[in-house]
Amino acid sequence: TFDLALAALGGYLLGSIPFGLVLTMAAGLGDIRAIGSGNIGATNVLRTGRKGLALATLLLDGGKGAIAALTALYLAGEQALLVAGFAAVLGHNFPIWLGFKGGKGVATTLGTLIAASPFAGLGACLVWLVVARIFKISSLSALVALAAAPVMAYFLSGPEHAAMAAGLAVLGFIRHHANIRRLLKGDEPRIGQKKG
Ligand code: G3P
Repeated sequence: TFDLALAALGGYLLGSIPFGLVLTMAAGLGDIRAIGSGNIGATNVLRTGRKGLALATLLLDGGKGAIAALTALYLAGEQALLVAGFAAVLGHNFPIWLGFKGGKGVATTLGTLIAASPFAGLGACLVWLVVARIFKISSLSALVALAAAPVMAYFLSGPEHAAMAAGLAVLGFIRHHANIRRLLKGDEPRIGQKKG
């Protein structure tokens, strides 16, 4: 249990690094929370017009989930991996440094899933890409990928992984409540569009 508590703490702290905010600040673009949807994720960084910065945000936010999960696996085993991965997404969504007002956790969830259940994680990325290709809406792609992830994790990695993916999916849907409302009204912006 001490191991699991450490995994949770380590995962949370790693996840709480808001790369989108740090990178846009460092690039002199100001506070990303005042741009577009106000979110700190890669989708919103793309609204600044800086593709490289958005890609870096995606990779770093995803990478921190994967690294949290894999470090915990290496140090304390399979259960710790699940705890640390979940905690990393909580850290991204509710970072202590930003008054617990963070992101929506899509990139970090995908990174965590790739580390925890590689086939399900990559499958979820593929679903994201396919939906994005068709509809060109980041949040919609994320919601479909999040919903598909537990099903894929169940069949490819077993019930424990499916439970984590389901927990992450529920969390992700809750974080996208404003996006879901815009999607239902039909005014969710397309990928790269400035308004949000
Ligand atoms: O990863 C978050 C994405 O699904 C939606 O981002 O900025 O359009 O609310 P945004």
